[in-house]
Amino acid sequence: MSDKPSMDTFVSLCKRRGFIFQSSEIYGGIGGFWDYGPLGVEMKNSIKQNWWRAMVQHRDDVVGLDAAIIMNPRVWVASGHVETFADPMVDCKDCKRRFRTDDLTPNDMGELRCPECGGELTDSRMFNLMFKTYVGPVADEASVVYLRPETAQAMFVNFDNVLTTTRRKLPFGIAQIGRSFRNEITPGNFIFRDREFEQMEMEYFVMPGTDEDWHDRWIEERFNWWLNLGVRKENLQIREHTKEELSHYSKRTVDIEYDFPFAGFAEIEGIANRTNFDLKQHEQHAGRTLQYFDEPSGEHVVPYVIEPAMGVDRCFLTVLIDAYAEEEVKGEKRVVLRLKPELAPVKIAVLPLSRNEQLAPTARKVWDLLRPHFMTQFDDAQSIGRRYRRQDEIGTPFCVTVDFDTLEDEAVTIRDRDEMTQDRVPIANLVTALREKLGGC
Ligand code: GAP
Repeated sequence: MSDKPSMDTFVSLCKRRGFIFQSSEIYGGIGGFWDYGPLGVEMKNSIKQNWWRAMVQHRDDVVGLDAAIIMNPRVWVASGHVETFADPMVDCKDCKRRFRTDDLTPNDMGELRCPECGGELTDSRMFNLMFKTYVGPVADEASVVYLRPETAQAMFVNFDNVLTTTRRKLPFGIAQIGRSFRNEITPGNFIFRDREFEQMEMEYFVMPGTDEDWHDRWIEERFNWWLNLGVRKENLQIREHTKEELSHYSKRTVDIEYDFPFAGFAEIEGIANRTNFDLKQHEQHAGRTLQYFDEPSGEHVVPYVIEPAMGVDRCFLTVLIDAYAEEEVKGEKRVVLRLKPELAPVKIAVLPLSRNEQLAPTARKVWDLLRPHFMTQFDDAQSIGRRYRRQDEIGTPFCVTVDFDTLEDEAVTIRDRDEMTQDRVPIANLVTALREKLGGC
């Protein structure tokens, strides 16, 4: 099995097979925005569903939320984002390109020259990453709002609503999946750093004093989630933030990192101890108490918060890259995505041995039989070998082949993506057999 793909190979596979397209491509695209195609949307939905099940539905201590993207702008003053959510930036006076100051090499910095054209750079200044827009018909300072740069604040401002409506006791969590927006100075590395992306975040409220223990537990829990998604352990690592790196709200943050072919180890999820910073800020700015009455101790406390926060798009990239393999089969190259069946965009492909009018009605009948149960594709174009390769390349775990014997014995062949073995199964047992092989997904 070969090592990881080059970024170009990978981006071209994603486009060619309908996983990811550049946003507004026919107009030349727009930097930092991407569209998920027919296969991409299936896989992205499966990732989100897996996270939601693990973090909400299969637990008894976490509930869900789906909040509006635009919030009262005072939220972002209280959270500190208006003041501090900024990166240092320089512009080239000649070619007008813009760079993050911390992306420039020591050499560029020493000479303070544009790495693209050698032109003179402006002084470094802070650039707020929040997108601004206006609410209502008048575009003035009073109507400025922001597209949220993280989903987390909705969980903090709804803390009391959830507490009173669900009558929860600490510890408990609020989870959300939703879009976030950051006007990144240098988006890039395909969908790794975007300006519009999706986050899956959970705020876990705990009694002060138990926060460090819960933080450790969540680090372990989240690392295991990545392994369970099928990502190989040797490509993952846990990294502790240095004091200088910590966000303004964090007492301790640990990143889960993946070894990307283009960047080496880089963050895919952060697990932060946010203390009670956010709830306290909102208490102060909104003039409302956001407290919890602890019956055993008879006291009101502002809970501490442990936050596992990850990006769906970065997870998507991780899963696809980790599943990608190139192999030699009988002297021919095959590209295969060894995706966990649960994440594969197409679970089953129905393939008549050839495009033959005798086979067509039975093959269609098999497709009709499977469609209500599994995400299924039908393909009768070109040779059967090429069709297997096409399915391998998009990670389809099983192909069902209808051949001339099928017309006699009412049985079909199930071909396994990874082992390339073939099993003969009666059509009457096909749904059950496939369900077993797919492990119930
Ligand atoms: N609420 C905490 C928070 O937002 P973060 O480390 O800034 O923390 C969490 O973001 C996760 O969101 C990251 O680990 C990453 O997976 C994803 N993410 C952040 N910025 C992103 C961007 N510009 N493009 C894609 N994903 C991003």
